Amino acid sequence: MSKIISIHSFRGGTGKSNITASMAALLASAGRRVGVIDTDIQSPGIHVLLGLKETEVKHSLNEYLWGKCAIEEAAHDVTDSVVHAVDGKVEGQPLDISKGRIFLIPSSMKAGEIARVLREGCDVDVLRDGIRNLVDVLKLDVLLIDTHPGLNEETLLSIATSDGLIVVMRPDQQDFQGTRVAVEVARKLGIEKMVIVVNKTSNIFDPAAVKEEVANIYKTEVAAVLPHADEVMNLGSASVFAMRYPNHPITAAIKHTADMLLA
Ligand SMILES: Nc1ncnc2c1ncn2[C@@H]1O[C@H](COP(=O)(O)OP(=O)(O)O)[C@@H](O)[C@H]1O
Ligand SMILES: [Mg+2]
Repeated sequence: MSKIISIHSFRGGTGKSNITASMAALLASAGRRVGVIDTDIQSPGIHVLLGLKETEVKHSLNEYLWGKCAIEEAAHDVTDSVVHAVDGKVEGQPLDISKGRIFLIPSSMKAGEIARVLREGCDVDVLRDGIRNLVDVLKLDVLLIDTHPGLNEETLLSIATSDGLIVVMRPDQQDFQGTRVAVEVARKLGIEKMVIVVNKTSNIFDPAAVKEEVANIYKTEVAAVLPHADEVMNLGSASVFAMRYPNHPITAAIKHTADMLLA
């Protein structure tokens, strides 16, 4: 049975897109057919990580939402571009994603099209139908939804449609408050499985202590506490972290997070 997983954070810049991209590659390396949908319509970005150039975008999620194309026409097979985007020496045993597939449904990068969604909003019923059709038509094993930070209508719908939710947060007081809101809303929406990932943790903190503290505050499982790492910074979202650093502890922690949700 296919699974839909949303990756969300209350505030931006927590590392959602980077974590989503690595998770997609790890799932593909296990032979799975993975969809990635960028519902961050206001500030799309995951296409950059997955190596899809703006000029290669045939149709976007925006066009689907406006009835200009079928959802599968907005799906781009990025399996090869994920491999080609890797630049520099792979540290460890390279991930072979050729037995799986990664399809990206990008959001439009055209200013006018972004403005139109901001002005008119989006029809959440159409989005829900699109998500369901996508899973069927592309025969996906897993669909990852990279959401917009905060809680807008598309995000609430994405969470409500998902089987699992990953809430990403930094150990920062603003994130702590916001995450409480996100976690409460997800519970109200009846999400089946929810885990928290703490990212960008300073190395002056003890990860085990952070894990316990966060789990206690939100009464939610903490799947991983990831460090603030130069390797992620230096990669600068030019490619997928797990492809470049397959043996890194961050990669292992993202794999563990995926396993928890798909168990
Ligand atoms: N663990 C980390 N250590 C250092 N930098 C990180 C880490 N995770 C993400 N980043 C950086 O933070 C920025 C935002 O990441 P991104 O995945 O785009 O976040 P979001 O999608 O939540 O806005 C990027 O520049 C990325 O390289
Ligand atoms: Mg993002």
